[in-house]
Amino acid sequence: MAESTPASPPPLLRIKDLSIEFRRRGGDPMQAVKGISLELNQGESLAIVGESGSGKSATALALARLLPEPPARISATQLSVSGHDVLSLNERELRKIRGKEIAYIFQEPSTSLNPVLTVRTQMAESLALHRPEVTNRDQEIIQWLYKVGIVEPEKRLKAYPHELSGGMQQRVMIAMALCCQPRLLIADEPTTALDVTIQKQIIDLLAELRTSLNMSLILITHNFGIIRDVADRVAVMFRGRIVETGPVEQILENPKHPYTQALLDCVPRMGSKLERLRAIDYDLIERTAPII
Ligand SMILES: Nc1ncnc2c1ncn2[C@@H]1O[C@H](COP(=O)(O)OP(=O)(O)OP(=O)(O)O)[C@@H](O)[C@H]1O
Ligand SMILES: [Mg+2]
Repeated sequence: MAESTPASPPPLLRIKDLSIEFRRRGGDPMQAVKGISLELNQGESLAIVGESGSGKSATALALARLLPEPPARISATQLSVSGHDVLSLNERELRKIRGKEIAYIFQEPSTSLNPVLTVRTQMAESLALHRPEVTNRDQEIIQWLYKVGIVEPEKRLKAYPHELSGGMQQRVMIAMALCCQPRLLIADEPTTALDVTIQKQIIDLLAELRTSLNMSLILITHNFGIIRDVADRVAVMFRGRIVETGPVEQILENPKHPYTQALLDCVPRMGSKLERLRAIDYDLIERTAPII
């Protein structure tokens, strides 16, 4: 008898026709995201690129309903994370999803770290909420601080955020996100504020942890340089829409959409003389259908 092949697991993240608008007092609502669709499997890594204001962060925050509603209004045919229908969850249910199913790290550690709590207190709170089975919290915290490359982690337990350098704060924020063992980590410009050598270390760390933890990763960045090392796929956003998606090599080597081509044209290539940048033809971009 032929063995039946096991059904492949459902995608971790399923976004269908997601739109986000912001209501403005006395004005028309602003459409920040205009019907985007995406899927992400467990362990997969997606980079989202696009110019400032194209809707990258709004999309990311909508996944755990972290946008203030109002002024935001989120609609979608489907928005599911690990099988949870995010749009129908109440605040209590959302709190369980945040941190456990989806964790975030941002450009500014100060948006995630509480200045009046020690590293130990804030990480212990996260553990208590999302992994109550962990009995020896200090040991667990030390282990995560060590994993993100903090030397002598025992000594950092009692530190307040301001006592740590920017790179160290970023690492604590990553440790705090990872100690809950999220299925999906969303890193929104995680290294922009850091100097280049620390950027590289943090990106290498994310790439390594993603593999060792089989975590999914969404990396939002302006930096094409780091995408190749971390992402399996790329989604290119332009004015609230995804204009092109594909495997990372395909997007970087053979971009098809004029906006992707224009974005890549702006990246100085190693070893090439800096050519005059082509003017961006926004009309052509608007007229070209998405390549998905
Ligand atoms: N809370 C908010 N209230 C009103 N408008 C908002 C809010 N958050 C985002 N927007 C608007 O939605 C649009 C998309 O913003 P978003 O932050 O998603 O852009 P982005 O692609 O992340 O840009 P950047 O690369 O600069 O971070 C922008 O026009 C922004 O002004
Ligand atoms: Mg942003």
